[in-house]
Amino acid sequence: RQPTDSPLYPLLHAASEFYRQALKNHPARQAAVSYLKKRGLSGLIARDFALGFAPPGWDSLLKHMGSDPLQQKAMIDAGLLIENTETGKRYDRFRDRIIFPIRDSRGRVIAFGGRVLGDDKPKYLNSPETPVFHKGQELYGLYEARKHNRNLDEVMIVEGYMDVIALAQQGLRNAVATLGTATSEEHLKRLFRLVPSVLFCFDGDAAGRKAAWRALESTLPSLQDGRRARFLFLPEGEDPDTLVRAEGAEAFQARIHQQAQPLADYFFEQLSQEADPRSLEGKAHLATLAAPLIEKIPGANLRALMRQRLTQITGLSGEAISQAPTPSSAPP
Ligand code: GTP
Ligand code: MN
Ligand code: MN
Ligand code: MN
Ligand code: MN
Repeated sequence: RQPTDSPLYPLLHAASEFYRQALKNHPARQAAVSYLKKRGLSGLIARDFALGFAPPGWDSLLKHMGSDPLQQKAMIDAGLLIENTETGKRYDRFRDRIIFPIRDSRGRVIAFGGRVLGDDKPKYLNSPETPVFHKGQELYGLYEARKHNRNLDEVMIVEGYMDVIALAQQGLRNAVATLGTATSEEHLKRLFRLVPSVLFCFDGDAAGRKAAWRALESTLPSLQDGRRARFLFLPEGEDPDTLVRAEGAEAFQARIHQQAQPLADYFFEQLSQEADPRSLEGKAHLATLAAPLIEKIPGANLRALMRQRLTQITGLSGEAISQAPTPSSAPP
């Protein structure tokens, strides 16, 4: 999946150290330090996540790393430098941003995320795909969560870097985030090799709710019996960062305890909103939507129980449901 050895690793490590030192020593560091403080983060948490600061200016890292042309070429491959194709000029990708190193399961830095200190756009910048970084497979915070506890019984999946870190700051150290991509089957396969339970906790906005349904679809192929997935829907306008800071860890955990919805419940609730099971047409539609998804579940018992629930809702017998045709577009 990932090369065991690559000349990019030491470069990424050196860059990470440079950004970390800059957060401690750079003359322009104060804005970054104030920003992190404003967001409620302590020096201890900054250290655990190896947060850094990419100084303003076009060539801070470039100058720090030296002028060896082969090394500069490798830094381009690592996503650290950008080369202007017309002028051939090289410059730092990350400038004047808070730096979040992304580490693989062994703790090696493989990429970075960077956040502006204010409201500039783009708010976040990520490393591009490189030989050592495949966005669709990595989860931010997984290394840190496992480092803190090798025997996690549940991982919380959130949307953003700051959600992971804000939760950790409040003592909830089991959160991970996808890197600006949808939660994929690949992500879930990886997670379920490590933990028996995942809790999705996306932003309380339309994007978050959409992401939750996509996450459900990606989870189905991993649902062997003995595994579970839950969904926590946050109040409109909140994300895990804002909420845990406002109400604290205990209230947040109580919220999980009281409100997290098992995947099967969310599944039927959501489908019942799309196809109203009070009419026969709605029941038919619901069965058509649900059946192919239920068939993706590898756990024979859960699959049987979900078919049974579908039978209860629609009145269709198991046999009739499995024959339900997949939706086809009607001729005009
Ligand atoms: P904060 O404003 O720092 O609290 O960010 P957030 O994590 O709450 O951001 P938001 O909910 O808008 O987005 C969630 C995640 O999507 C972020 O953590 C990023 O990974 C990604 N994201 C957001 N904005 C951008 C962007 O402008 N560019 C890219 N590449 N990713 C983004
Ligand atoms: Mn590869
Ligand atoms: Mn959002
Ligand atoms: Mn958010
Ligand atoms: Mn946020």
